[in-house]
Amino acid sequence: MKFKVYYYSRKGSNKYLAQRIASDLNCEMEEIRPRLNTFLFMMMNLNLGNRKLKSNPTNYDKVILCHPIFMGKLIVPLKKFIIQNTNQINALDFVTSCGSTFAKKDEKFGHNLVFQEVKRLLGSKCEKCQAFPIGLVLPKELQESPDAFMHNHLNNENFKGEILSLYQNFISEYLGSAEKLK
Ligand SMILES: Cc1cc2nc3c(=O)[nH]c(=O)nc-3n(C[C@H](O)[C@H](O)[C@H](O)COP(=O)(O)O)c2cc1C
Repeated sequence: MKFKVYYYSRKGSNKYLAQRIASDLNCEMEEIRPRLNTFLFMMMNLNLGNRKLKSNPTNYDKVILCHPIFMGKLIVPLKKFIIQNTNQINALDFVTSCGSTFAKKDEKFGHNLVFQEVKRLLGSKCEKCQAFPIGLVLPKELQESPDAFMHNHLNNENFKGEILSLYQNFISEYLGSAEKLK
């Protein structure tokens, strides 16, 4: 099974996740590059789309997309990536290092709302959505802290414990399916 990881990241957590997945699956990764990479404009939904990808998603059995969630919205570059590539994508899993916890996933700024939107745009091509809430790198009593995501970003130092177990379960499913298809 041929995988490709595409990612967008502002503070590095989703890049870290993308690098880890690409390394574990021994596959290529590529950055999504918005023409206007300004946070404020993105929040205002002002954009010029993304730059052309270096690779065509159609060449891969599955695309794994790593992208943050901001203000509970499906923002550019995620939205444009999906819209510009829907026909080229064979199958996609959406993965996010985000601020919202599992307990708050259905609230206004929760990751579940963005998952639903990705699934709505891609239909059955979106096979899985997985959140890696950044609070999981913290002790239990601090995980629900609203500003946990402002001060913490994934790296080799903090990617351990609960978040590492979650990741190991997540990645083992791919390794299992890759083995079966050999
Ligand atoms: C201004 C701002 C708004 C955010 N809004 C949300 C949100 O609505 N929901 C959420 O789950 N996380 C939210 N986050 C947390 C980011 O998704 C999280 O920090 C993510 O790991 C950033 O990814 P990056 O390091 O790859 O840029 C927000 C972060 C910032 C700075």
